[in-house]
Amino acid sequence: MSILHSTARELTHGGRGILAADESIKTMSARLEAEGITAGETARRDYRELLLTAPGLSATVSGIILADETFGQELSDGRPFPVAARELGVLPGIKVDTGTTPLPGAGGALITEGLDGLGARLSSYAERGAAFAKWRAVIDIATTTEQTARANGHALARYAALCQEHGIVPIVEPEVLCSGDHDIVACADTTRLALAVVFNELEDAGVDLRGIVLKPNFVTPGLEAPKVSAAAVAAATFEILRSTVPAAVPGIAFLSGGHPTDDVCAFLKELSAIPERPWDVTFSFGRALVSAALSTWGGAPANVDAAQERLLDNCRQAADATA
Ligand code: G3H
Repeated sequence: MSILHSTARELTHGGRGILAADESIKTMSARLEAEGITAGETARRDYRELLLTAPGLSATVSGIILADETFGQELSDGRPFPVAARELGVLPGIKVDTGTTPLPGAGGALITEGLDGLGARLSSYAERGAAFAKWRAVIDIATTTEQTARANGHALARYAALCQEHGIVPIVEPEVLCSGDHDIVACADTTRLALAVVFNELEDAGVDLRGIVLKPNFVTPGLEAPKVSAAAVAAATFEILRSTVPAAVPGIAFLSGGHPTDDVCAFLKELSAIPERPWDVTFSFGRALVSAALSTWGGAPANVDAAQERLLDNCRQAADATA
């Protein structure tokens, strides 16, 4: 089995999932400030160290997605983050897109940037131990059209092909945003469009589907709309995935998108129980795993153990939902 195939499988198979700790400097700083912590390079590093060094994290977490800043930082014992991650049994990943900008003439729809110079950056990340990468396309139900979906799908495919050339597994993330008051049908329609276009583009770019991880949203009503049952979310999500995601894809790792931890774990549990599923399903959650840990920590060294416990509890709950 090639390294791409075995890494994609290791990330998504066997009841473990991915911890997304790759918030940009701006987003991470805002989250720290919201908890009353003075944001800076050191606070961001201390927080990510707290996450990565939670005792026994690798029992439930297969990989950690890091931001560029963290990837180049060291733990307090002097080990670079990617080196420490591997020693702790967690594959290090790197977010390589550089964020979004409005797509010209597209009514506010966003395009993700970061392709310029990406080959050289991937080469450097690979040398420093990256096993996988992440690129997030942001898809807003209100503004997405076939053309904007195609622009984002094309960028995702170019990124994915480049990653594979460098021996790095691409996480392909076309995220249909959960914010808003849309119903589940609107989310299903846009998710179907986004995924169908992405897989067309991946095929055109010659990407080996056995060496990627897909990171989609669950198909849900918007966060400001009335909720539906977890079984209904799983059924709608499976229906869209079944019609768009080839069986060659080894694993699907979902984002949490602002949904509460209990909700996304319930969605994952229902989806895992569907017997005719051809791919492994697991989590690649950010907020659903880390929010409680961040507020428990509050920047105080005395709270590190308690914060790590909160993180581990959430990772365990998510991992249990894949069984
Ligand atoms: O790109 C999205 C993140 O990796 C996952 O974050 O689970 O908080 O939506 P989230």
